[in-house]
Amino acid sequence: MSSVSRRGFLGAVGAVGAVAASAGVAGASPRTVLAQAGHPSGLTVDGDRFLLDGKPFQIVSGAVHYFRIHPDLWRDRLLRLRAMGLNTVETYVAWNFHEPRRGEVDFDGWRDLPRFVRTAGELGLKVVFRPGPYICAEWDLGGLPPWLLANPETALRCGDPEYTRAVDTWFAHLIPTVAPLQASRGGPVIAVQVENEYGSYGNDQEHLRHIAELLRRHGIDSLLFCSNGTADYMLRGGNLPDVLATANFSGDPKEPFDALRRYQPHGPLWCTEFWNGWFDHWGEKHHVTDPAKEASHVDRILAAGGSVNLYMAAGSTNFGWGSGANFDDGSRTYQPTVTSYDYDAPVSESGELTEKFHRLRAVIGKYVTLPDEPLPASPARLPARTVRPTQRVGLLDSLGRLAEPVRVAAPVPMERLGQPHGLIHYRTTVQGPRAKRSLRVPGLGDRALVFLDGKEIGLLDRNKPDQGVDVAVTGDSARLELLVDAGGRLNFGQNLNDTKGIRGNVLLGAQALFNWEIFPLPLDDLRHLRFSSRPPTLPGPVFHRATLRVDQPADGFLALPGWRKGLLWLNGFLLGRYWDIGPQRTLYAPAPLWRPGVNELIALELHHAGPTIELREAPDLG
Ligand code: GLA
Repeated sequence: MSSVSRRGFLGAVGAVGAVAASAGVAGASPRTVLAQAGHPSGLTVDGDRFLLDGKPFQIVSGAVHYFRIHPDLWRDRLLRLRAMGLNTVETYVAWNFHEPRRGEVDFDGWRDLPRFVRTAGELGLKVVFRPGPYICAEWDLGGLPPWLLANPETALRCGDPEYTRAVDTWFAHLIPTVAPLQASRGGPVIAVQVENEYGSYGNDQEHLRHIAELLRRHGIDSLLFCSNGTADYMLRGGNLPDVLATANFSGDPKEPFDALRRYQPHGPLWCTEFWNGWFDHWGEKHHVTDPAKEASHVDRILAAGGSVNLYMAAGSTNFGWGSGANFDDGSRTYQPTVTSYDYDAPVSESGELTEKFHRLRAVIGKYVTLPDEPLPASPARLPARTVRPTQRVGLLDSLGRLAEPVRVAAPVPMERLGQPHGLIHYRTTVQGPRAKRSLRVPGLGDRALVFLDGKEIGLLDRNKPDQGVDVAVTGDSARLELLVDAGGRLNFGQNLNDTKGIRGNVLLGAQALFNWEIFPLPLDDLRHLRFSSRPPTLPGPVFHRATLRVDQPADGFLALPGWRKGLLWLNGFLLGRYWDIGPQRTLYAPAPLWRPGVNELIALELHHAGPTIELREAPDLG
């Protein structure tokens, strides 16, 4: 991204700053680029073009994130991308998806990244691999694991020893899982990215070099590349002398490719992220782009002999706690990203082939041979239906079933307690009697429901730091509680240290309140909740349970009309967050999450529940 704020980016291309007259890769000759341009049997650089196994090759690639798509649907989505004419797919790796808790590294099931790569290979697709470790991607903390925030002194994305140690350990796990799948060993992986848009963030060239060396040390012999916006500081800060520079942009390729050329006079032109759509924040407008225009821009990239990676080619979902967030520096606003990552991509979140798909396919067909096979059919959908939750239990009444409390003097955020995600509840006693004072939490991530002696008395919001909640204690003491509702962690910009819960003191007037009990609520397992038939009017944050029968699992879209904000689980799987400020109105519930027979829906509504949950036949993203 070219600007500090991500608001209203659409249509803009990376700002092209002045590039020094002696353009070149940080003083290196283009030859150096060629010298290290990959194993001879894979993707190599030959002047201004790529060769694959020695033959000219134009990379026509699309981004698809295995961590955002149910593993039973990986093959389906890859087939759809192949049907669009892509010869390559690209994926990031989300470190926090594999190691949410330090030392617990997981490559099984949904986390079986090698299986995803192998599946792409079986379908004849090449793979561009982007292991980060930072990936941005509108994903919580840009893919970095939250435990990196436990020590506020750790500086991220630079040569800080703590950060470097963590990255070294992670890459020692990750890279050997994929190294055997490179083209040099008969696999589909042809290129590997070093960090991600590093120039938008920092200038620690030593760190960038360290990441590249780690890749080599763990067996990566494929072509390496750095991908950046095309402002001069991005190109200068985010590239390495002997690594191919590529560009990320939207719109007409002329200016950004010119900027890349000035910086790197020789080498193939590769747009490693062509933003053919965009993501949404809660409370802002839904983004869609013109399919015809996107197709014509891609046409221009390919006509210029360039290579492309469509970002995103397949839409997908920020299931669970996956969503990231942005921060608008101008208005000082925290902007959480919605649950859908449809991105207005050519293959939609639920696998539909959109108009953009057909337009892009027509263009791509001018440059590569389209597969001679019928287009994949639309995924099946469950019939529409309305269900009424009948059982409920209050969250405050369930704290003991959901968490072991921790005692602290001053409040700490969840990362300090080893809690990777979820809500977090803080409880203390305030001595009285005392007159009304304003309660404020300067280090709040991100909203807090405030309760006095069990009764809700107000809401604190990170985006409204001046609005306190009045607290008066009439008796000898009162129980003060704050239930903190955390949005996604920032994934872009300079404020990555975005801890969740409470950091620093809780202030009542001029006085800090000490001695707290904290209930970490990762909500990974709801089986201990004790549901019973309770009226829908049960006050406070409440879990609502409904069941519905399904004959044949298929895709569904769940809407919560009249509900305000919360989380929705299907058969114990957290589909994600919902919020009535939109733009997203339905949550995608893919076929593999349903079972034949009885299915269970649980909604945790923080404010006010509606009477029913609707299963709809079509998505509504705003
Ligand atoms: C940048 C990042 C991506 C993503 C896009 C916007 O290009 O590299 O990870 O955040 O912006 O969707």
